[in-house]
Amino acid sequence: MSDIVRTFPKDLIDLDQFSPEQLTHILDTAENFKEVSEREIKKVPTLRGKLVVIFFHENSTRTRLSFEVAAKRLSADTVALSASGSSLSKGESLLDTARNIEAMHPDALVIRHGASGTPGFLGRRLSFPVLNAGDGAHAHPTQALLDMLTLREVKGRLDGLRIAIIGDIAHSRVARSNMIGLSKMGARVAVAGPPSMMAVELAETYGVEVYNRPEPAIEGADGVMMLRIQLERQTGALFPGNREYALVYGLSRERLKLAKEDAVILHPGPVNQGVELSPELYEDRRSVILPQVTNGVAVRMALLYLLIERPGQAEAA
Ligand code: CP
Repeated sequence: MSDIVRTFPKDLIDLDQFSPEQLTHILDTAENFKEVSEREIKKVPTLRGKLVVIFFHENSTRTRLSFEVAAKRLSADTVALSASGSSLSKGESLLDTARNIEAMHPDALVIRHGASGTPGFLGRRLSFPVLNAGDGAHAHPTQALLDMLTLREVKGRLDGLRIAIIGDIAHSRVARSNMIGLSKMGARVAVAGPPSMMAVELAETYGVEVYNRPEPAIEGADGVMMLRIQLERQTGALFPGNREYALVYGLSRERLKLAKEDAVILHPGPVNQGVELSPELYEDRRSVILPQVTNGVAVRMALLYLLIERPGQAEAA
């Protein structure tokens, strides 16, 4: 326990900061917090008196809401700021904005930003924990952790699982964080997507299998994670159209037959039904897309608790 907590980083930037034991500790903590959301009074006093600033510079439904729900379930106060309603629109720099936030003595900053590296940049300059809620195409560590929690819950383990990640790998921060996290936990990852949306070097860095067709990646998989095409991060037309994409890369009942019979379907959302995933599979009993959202609250509760309270670190010092 002591090594796990003593070396816990100040900020959450991506999963390469954590050892497999630390990732397990985060997942175990999240599993314990899940029960709070099932109570009649869905609140514990763990972070009473703490202030969490939630700053989203890009749109979000799941991550933003679940960070806010997570903080509130731990009794922390939350304040939200978005780019359009802030003085960024008057030309104030992001660092000046962050320093003004710091002057109000918050206990954590949750940030989503379109530019890769922004949470790390701020984390190195601010005295309190910064949690990355998604930065450009770089990382989405809380999404990968909730995916891992969901897989571990359904399959009982991560070690030895085969997980296929299909779609716009090049522009996906979800794919990148999952490649790191799942590989660290002993899962075998196979990625597939159109050549124009593939990041072969990235995949090879993390020792994952790379395919341009979905079938060999899905073959024998325990989990199939479908990705949205990240049009907002693409600079040109990288595929002919949604219909063609769905035909070649979309998950259909037929394609899913290649996976193990008890394979689960994951998707970080938002889902474009009929493009990367057929509407019938969205509703299928094997879909864990909504349980992923439920687990997102528990994972974010765990991270806020571990990074703000740093339990066990005083004894370990
Ligand atoms: N999975 C995810 O990041 O969804 P949002 O963009 O809605 O937060």
